[in-house]
Amino acid sequence: MQVLNIGSLNIDVVYRVPHIVRNGETLASRSVSKHAGGKGLNQSIALARAGVKTAHAGAIGQDGVFLKELLKKEGVDCSEIAVISDEPTGCAIIQVADDGENSIILLRGTNFCVTPAIVRKALEKMPENSIVLLQNEISALKECIEIASAMNMRIFFNPSPMDESIGDLPLELIDTFLVNENESRELNALAGRRIANCNVLTTFGADGAEYCGRDGDVIRIAAVKVDNVVDTTGAGDTFTGYFIASLVHGRTPEDAMKTAAAASAVAVSRPGAAEAIPYMNELTTVR
Ligand code: RIB
Repeated sequence: MQVLNIGSLNIDVVYRVPHIVRNGETLASRSVSKHAGGKGLNQSIALARAGVKTAHAGAIGQDGVFLKELLKKEGVDCSEIAVISDEPTGCAIIQVADDGENSIILLRGTNFCVTPAIVRKALEKMPENSIVLLQNEISALKECIEIASAMNMRIFFNPSPMDESIGDLPLELIDTFLVNENESRELNALAGRRIANCNVLTTFGADGAEYCGRDGDVIRIAAVKVDNVVDTTGAGDTFTGYFIASLVHGRTPEDAMKTAAAASAVAVSRPGAAEAIPYMNELTTVR
């Protein structure tokens, strides 16, 4: 089984700061560095490092060609990543504080040049029973959901960053939502009964995660304790990629959550987003 991730590709500009800048404050950073990022790219790397055949569709500018090269090196099929010559690649200005917490400002850039035509072409190339993975950082999401659903594909949706546009999407066609605690509240407020037949996986950071299956099953797992949190950026993306990868490998949702929690624990103990994501053979705490 393969996964098609129709997702964002960002250039992350990361400032290391003592604390997240406060309202009205001017703060000197300890360093600044440029990295590959974007929830889409991070999740594709997590899927690939977890051993799943992954294709990524999306859009970059000329300045983002290195993102495509990086994904290719990870073994991700990048044939449906469009290069748009007159737009900047999506960009994230990230503050990472000494306690590992982060805050992010996004420039959508070419992530919002994703068209229904790009989406349809990418989906039509996928074998039957492929999984489609989406986040809320690209344009043409409605078409992604409608076309993938018409092709009977299972759609996993991480509606992050959450905003009101989510309420306009055909959410009842989603198989599984992957959200954090705040997003879960907002999703319920926006979607209400429309998602009653969907699976919802909610992560609670250091308090673990909960899976509510459409059949009424509720599974709760504890987080893996991390003594030295260095950078939480991309931890949720690591969880998402490893959870889906484990399901693809035939694991139960409970096993998949445990593997995902172990992978996220490794990711937060390292700096960066994409580069912090572990390979499957680095996870010693799971079978
Ligand atoms: O989830 C982390 C990601 O969010 C960063 O890599 C940044 O690009 C934003 O999309």
